[in-house]
Amino acid sequence: MNSHPNSVKGSALTTLIGGIVILLAVLFFLVKLATGGYYSDVEDMNPNAVETRIKPAGGLLLGDGTPVGQREGKQVFDKVCIQCHGADSNVAFSPKITHNADWAPRIAKGFETLVKHAIDGFVGPQGGSMPARGGDTTLTDDEVARAVAYMANESGASFNAPAVQSEGGEAAASSEQSAAAGDSSATGKAVFDKLCVACHAANSTFPNSPKITHNDDWAPRIAQGRETLLKNAIQGFKTMPAKGGDPSLSDAEVEAAVAYMVNQSGGTF
Ligand code: HEC
Ligand code: HEC
Repeated sequence: MNSHPNSVKGSALTTLIGGIVILLAVLFFLVKLATGGYYSDVEDMNPNAVETRIKPAGGLLLGDGTPVGQREGKQVFDKVCIQCHGADSNVAFSPKITHNADWAPRIAKGFETLVKHAIDGFVGPQGGSMPARGGDTTLTDDEVARAVAYMANESGASFNAPAVQSEGGEAAASSEQSAAAGDSSATGKAVFDKLCVACHAANSTFPNSPKITHNDDWAPRIAQGRETLLKNAIQGFKTMPAKGGDPSLSDAEVEAAVAYMVNQSGGTF
């Protein structure tokens, strides 16, 4: 007779306890969810890391899409060396790109020595440790050398990087193009005066662009070699827009404009 009200009471208690358990579980997961979202690793948030993550997919493929042995210094740098040599890297003792003061004593050792240290690895007097090939064993000696030249040249040096052995066809095509652009200094000046002048004029205030007749601006660019400059001018490079922002220009016209600027600024293209 009494069992009926008791069992009702019992099941109410079970429901109450069950409810509390579920509530606690929900709270627990909510707290985890909320705090998880706010976790942030400073290393992951530095501008280089962020830039790498938000890079267009095409850019990320560059490093791997190029046959081994043919990667340019910049490609190698952007993929491997940037982790420790990026301008805003926090790694201790590594010379940071564009920090000319970091690089000056390194550059003074000479290109050969720097390349050797980058290939074999190097421990500095204060215990800073440069891993052999930056830790990427797929890099060839020439690729490491190109990365060294790229970094150093962005930081006050003017080393000559070993050239990329382009496939026969490509080399022939581009020398044909050069021939076509050969006697086109008039074209070069015309394109420059119409377009490139906006950012490359001697008195332009556009940030980072090498200014015409400012030989110091141009020396490290010229050191990258004609092929690299042409490629960067045609495809775009950092804040330099592809073809200066006018896709209707032919490659030969851009080439002529590059040659014109370089030749006004200490080079002989
Ligand atoms: C894991 C971090 C790390 C990576 C990745 C890395 N480096 Fe380094 N590198 C260092 C550090 C640290 C030093 C400074 C060592 C010292 O002198 O204390 C250094 C020094 C150097 C030097 C100067 C050597 C000298 O003789 O003064 C060169 C050149 C160099 N690195 C090239 C490269 C190249 C090229 C790459 C990419 C292929 C690369 N590094 C990738 C950490 C790194
Ligand atoms: C909207 C501004 C702008 C215009 C227009 C422009 N450039 Fe540039 N250019 C830049 C900037 C900025 C850089 C430097 C990028 C960097 O190194 O950060 C640069 C760099 C270059 C470089 C050096 C690339 C390297 O590898 O170091 C070449 C060559 C060049 N520009 C050619 C041209 C030519 C040719 C034209 C005209 C057809 C042109 N630019 C028009 C902004 C511009």
